[in-house]
Amino acid sequence: MIYIAPSILAADYANLGNDVRKVANADLIHVDIMDGHFVPNLSFGPDVTKAVKGVSGQFFDMHLMIEEPERWFETYIRAGGDRLIFHVEAVKDHVAAAQQVKQLGAQTGFAIKPGTPIEPYLDNLDLFDQVMIMSVEPGFGGQKFMPEVLGKVMTLRDHIAERGLNTIIGIDGGIGNETIAQAAEAGVDAFVAGSAVFGADNPAEAVDKLRRLAAAAQASET
Ligand code: DX5
Ligand code: ZN
Repeated sequence: MIYIAPSILAADYANLGNDVRKVANADLIHVDIMDGHFVPNLSFGPDVTKAVKGVSGQFFDMHLMIEEPERWFETYIRAGGDRLIFHVEAVKDHVAAAQQVKQLGAQTGFAIKPGTPIEPYLDNLDLFDQVMIMSVEPGFGGQKFMPEVLGKVMTLRDHIAERGLNTIIGIDGGIGNETIAQAAEAGVDAFVAGSAVFGADNPAEAVDKLRRLAAAAQASET
């Protein structure tokens, strides 16, 4: 299964509603929440999330690049988040955090920075609906894809297959027409794309093209 997830971080903030409607053909919407502490940038918060959710019937992934994300779980679920993805680097106990999200009734995932190893997080993978492998340092859109993180994708893919888990492997950062095939070949299911979608003349066509490229790469692997 392939999921293309446009990141509204790259949308036109003066026309956010219009931009989200343009990608009605996307599988889900990726919302980057930044607090200026966990990452050196600020984006938007629950009120903007809620407004965007109001014009979109799509599934919302909340990428929480914030310190103490647990304090905000309930708020972002109320704002329309369907899946909360917190950073393992931002929590003391990723298992407890996952359980907290589940108890609140949302799906859960964790994101992991390029320099953080995946091995310590493999044992409890069954608790997570998604793992988000960061292929740039979190904080800004439009950065260059880091192919060295694909080793983590392959480790995850093998581990998920061995245990027969349903965890989705996501990748976030620098995904576009030139990089999506290598990520798909490594085993990624869900592809976040900000500038490659909203920087295109026709964002819906950009989504379809990314999906075609990912499907072709997956097919060549099997
Ligand atoms: C970066 C964010 C990404 C960002 C991706 O911290 O997590 O979701 O929007 O942007 P592109 O696709 O432009 O690299
Ligand atoms: Zn993101």
